[in-house]
Amino acid sequence: MTETTVPTPPAAERPPAPAPAMAGELADELLARIDARTARVLVVGQGYVGLPVAMRAVEVGYGVVGLEVAPERAAALQAGSSYVADVPDDQLRAALAAGYRAVSDPAEAGPFDVAVVTVPTPLRDGAPDLSYVEDAATTLARRLRAGALIVLESTTYPGTTEELVAPLLEQSGLRAGDEFFLGYSPERIDPGNARWGFVNTPKVVSGIDEPSRRCVEAFYGSLVDKVVPVSSTAEAELVKLLENTFRHVNIALVNELAMFAEALGIDIWGAIDAASSKPFGFMRFTPGPGVGGHCLPIDPSYLSWRVKRRLGQTFRFVELANEVNEHMPDYVVTRAMMLLNRHQRALNGSRVLVLGLSYKAGTSDWRESPSIAVVERLQSLGAEVRACEPYMPEAGGPVTPAPVVDCTPAELAAADLVLLLVDHPDFDLDEIAAHARLVLDTKGVMRPRDFPGETL
Ligand SMILES: NC(=O)c1ccc[n+]([C@@H]2O[C@H](COP(=O)([O-])OP(=O)(O)OC[C@H]3O[C@@H](n4cnc5c(N)ncnc54)[C@H](O)[C@@H]3O)[C@@H](O)[C@H]2O)c1
Repeated sequence: MTETTVPTPPAAERPPAPAPAMAGELADELLARIDARTARVLVVGQGYVGLPVAMRAVEVGYGVVGLEVAPERAAALQAGSSYVADVPDDQLRAALAAGYRAVSDPAEAGPFDVAVVTVPTPLRDGAPDLSYVEDAATTLARRLRAGALIVLESTTYPGTTEELVAPLLEQSGLRAGDEFFLGYSPERIDPGNARWGFVNTPKVVSGIDEPSRRCVEAFYGSLVDKVVPVSSTAEAELVKLLENTFRHVNIALVNELAMFAEALGIDIWGAIDAASSKPFGFMRFTPGPGVGGHCLPIDPSYLSWRVKRRLGQTFRFVELANEVNEHMPDYVVTRAMMLLNRHQRALNGSRVLVLGLSYKAGTSDWRESPSIAVVERLQSLGAEVRACEPYMPEAGGPVTPAPVVDCTPAELAAADLVLLLVDHPDFDLDEIAAHARLVLDTKGVMRPRDFPGETL
């Protein structure tokens, strides 16, 4: 893809800029509407990020429309059925009763004062795919009115809001900063996290100029406990990539260390526990079967792509972390093979019960899940794989790579190897310890127990 696909119209083709006071007046009008909760909110994309934003906006009193391009998703929401684990049906139904609408046709969305864009930003052939953001911005440009605010929340490389989104929105004939407001606010949602949710997690906010920043700050200030303003949209875009690259690199560090510690005969988990007693300068990360979800396997590559594209240099930490983390499913399968071997069994023909297919605990999100890679590798080596997954995705979602069964004592006992890949809170660890014949625990959760097997 190109970094800026739509050129800004030459100055001569633009309508004359309004007097500077106008931007200030428009901002004051919008701020008053935000304050009174009469601002009409449109959330574009009703997925893991967009639906919780829409629900919260309804909760604090805004009139909210969710624009969701997938008609079956919009219909499910409109029928009171949520496919996002963090949004229970009860909350959705209360929102519908308060006036929330989910639509798939932009023509049905009505006018908006604040639009929040929460559409996917995947990689295609290793490069950022911003086509969803482009589509959303083009849709909004057709309906943009003077004085409205647009905020991009999708994770992306620094520069996207100003270089890609602003020119697309200006196809409306309105000028960013003068006649409409534009900002970026990264989402920090952590699906399945009961302690840190949308409201109590501080939200970084930014605008392309001062009036825009004020509007973004006021809008999110009405939704969350604390906002953290930064000086530019590029800075806010970098915040998200810094956070995720930090996690990605540190997970790779413990993963590589776990492999070396095993080879050296040292208990990595004991070392991590002891290091975690240091009250400063250390942050606990634990090994596992790899990284998954919509963020860690993807976001750091947005940053390394930008660095390569702009500076011609390689972001070595990101490349190395990708290499280590992508190797983990293979390493897990090798460890499973070695463990079975020590018990006079071959992986080929063995029955393996995999615990957890999602990318992490407490979520039905299977995107980029390392469990899928592990299952496929086990199957390619001749194992008969079954899986236990208490968090199944919505109908029409990903196809299960193996038959899904309940995690019963009989299933545990029938497996030659139980392979714990996700530490879902629903797994009964005592039952696993009591009934499984052999366990490979890749998350270190079985450790306090006496169980037949080993940790990663
Ligand atoms: N899921 C997370 O934990 C998380 C956390 C932080 C940031 N993010 C970022 O937030 C963004 C959205 O992620 P998500 O997990 O919510 O994705 P998602 O796939 O769950 O949801 C996105 C939704 O947008 C819809 N959509 C796509 N194009 C559209 C358009 N033009 N108009 C209307 N709807 C459209 C899709 O059908 C989908 O339902 C991504 O950039 C992601 O990197 C995700």
